[in-house]
Parts: sequence; C-alpha cells; structure tokens
Amino acid sequence: MSHNLLKGKRGIIFGALNEQSIAWKVAERAHEEGAIFTLTNTPVALRMGDTNKLGEKCNAEVIGVDATNVEDLEMLISRSMEILGGKIDFILHSIGMSPNVRKGKHYSELDYNLLDKTLDVSAISFHKILQVCRKQDALNRWASVLGLSYIAAQRTLVGYNDMADAKSLLESIARSFGYIYGRERNVRVNTISQSPTPTTAGGGIKGFDGLLDFSERMSPLGNATAAECADYCIVMFSDLTKKVTMQNLFHDGGFSNMGMSLRAMDQYNKGLCDDCDPDCNKDHKYD
Ligand SMILES: NC(=O)c1ccc[n+]([C@@H]2O[C@H](COP(=O)([O-])OP(=O)(O)OC[C@H]3O[C@@H](n4cnc5c(N)ncnc54)[C@H](O)[C@@H]3O)[C@@H](O)[C@H]2O)c1
Repeated sequence: MSHNLLKGKRGIIFGALNEQSIAWKVAERAHEEGAIFTLTNTPVALRMGDTNKLGEKCNAEVIGVDATNVEDLEMLISRSMEILGGKIDFILHSIGMSPNVRKGKHYSELDYNLLDKTLDVSAISFHKILQVCRKQDALNRWASVLGLSYIAAQRTLVGYNDMADAKSLLESIARSFGYIYGRERNVRVNTISQSPTPTTAGGGIKGFDGLLDFSERMSPLGNATAAECADYCIVMFSDLTKKVTMQNLFHDGGFSNMGMSLRAMDQYNKGLCDDCDPDCNKDHKYD
C-alpha cells in the first residue's frame, strides 16, 4: 500500500541483483511510494543478474558502476542528477562481498590482498559515494543515505569472517561522515543492521542456514525479511525521520538485545540429547 512517502524524491539504489536482493525490495517499495531513482550495479552483475528487469518495472535507468571506482561514481552521480532532473534525496548502499569468504579462507588465515578488497567493496565504497556526492554538491538538504549492516560488527558470529570487520568500518563511516554532512547540509547518514536474510550475499556465509534458524528462534518477533527491511528503508528515506542520523539501527526482531530464548534453549537441549551416547546417564542440560 502506498502512502506517497517519497513523492517528489530522487534517489540512487546500489546493489539490486535479483528478486531476493534487499535492494530489489527497496526499489519496488520506493517506486510504489512515488520516488524516481536510478539503479546501479557492477557491469558483471548487470550481465548475470536481473537488474535490467527491475529497471523496466520501476521505470528506472540502470547504470553499470563498480562502487570502488571513484571515476565510475563521479559519472553515476552526475548522470543520475541529469536523468532525474535535480539533486538527490536518498541513497541506498546495499553492497557486500568478501573474496576471503568466497575462497573459504579461515579468519585466522586471511589473505590480506583479499581483505583489502573486502573492505573496499563492502565499506570504503560507502565513504567514496559520500565523498563524491559532497564534492559534486549532489545531495539536497535533509537527504538520507543508508548502508546495510549486520550485528557481526558488534558481536562475533562464527563464519562471518572478514565481513565482520567490513561492517564495523561501514558503521564507523556512517557516524564520521554523518557528523560532517549533517553539520554542513543536514544530510542524514545511517546504517540498518538487518537480520540474516536469504539472498545471494547472505547464502555465501558459512553455516548460513543454521544462523538463520538460530536468530529466528532467538528473536521474539522472528527474523526481519527483505521486504520488511525495505519498509524500514522507506521510512528512513522519508521526511518522518529527519532528526535520525549517525545511528546503527537494529532491524532484527529483537535479536540484538537477546541472550537466550526458550525456543533456542529447547533446540539447544535437543541437540545435546541427540549427541548423547545412549548409555550415558549424565544430565547434559546445564553442562
Ligand atoms: N543477506 C543477509 O543476511 C544480510 C544481513 C545483513 C546485512 N546484509 C547486507 O545487505 C546488503 C545487500 O546484500 P543482499 O543480502 O541483498 O545480497 P545481494 O547479493 O543481493 O546484494 C549484494 C550486492 O552487492 C553488489 N556488489 C558487489 N560488489 C560490488 C561492487 N564492487 N560495486 C557495486 N556493487 C557491488 C552485488 O552485485 C550485489 O548486487 C549487503 O551490504 C549485505 O552485507 C545482508
């Protein structure tokens, strides 16, 4: 249902690859809410994915860009202003990729060249986008810029690997640039820390299905879906959240404030019993 929350607003949405992508759902909702925007992804992703299909659906021009390349970003941002007919009101950074994860490197055995790539793609690209926008004076006053994060920035979750470091950096960039851009142009910069979500990037994390099940059991409201994340992004792009900036906003059904839930405990105890030697009389429950 549309509330016209983004009527008259212009945006740039990074990272819609296929229908599962969080950015895909954000684009659909932004279109519904009356925004006009450009879509962007890497040239390879545009060839392999369905972004062009989404462009047709949302009446949005699709521009191939590597978000780590400053010249590409300069072209994207000036071209977007031309196409959309003015300065930009919202940006979604929905980009993540770790070649260390892809190559199955253990966190204690990271390849540092690959770590550079993880940080550049998943975090520093956020800084680059903001820096280029600022140089081109491309953002309207009260514009809203969002990155998508994960709780591995604060807590250790097995398998998340160097993406945890990338997310910590991403959240820090949101705070540091949020201060500067807020003072100068009233621009809001935030990250949304989303539940594990079945997407191409999410599925790349080792043990993802277990993680999804665990956080579903732990969260009183259950995991937040990609569509629900899109709803939150729309509110953050709207004028209803004008004084929210420099925040990492948990959108996770309550997971981030949980220690242990009954549903998770039940499953944990079952696991202990399953592992148990049939002849063992010991009560493992509270070992
Ligand atoms: N899926 C999850 O469980 C989950 C949870 C929390 C946060 N997030 C974050 O949400 C964001 C979106 O991921 P998703 O889950 O929708 O997966 P996705 O695979 O659909 O999206 C990731 C996107 O990053 C793009 N990308 C990779 N390298 C790029 C580059 N150099 N330049 C431009 N784009 C590039 C990919 O092409 C892809 O479109 C990521 O930041 C991810 O870390 C995901």
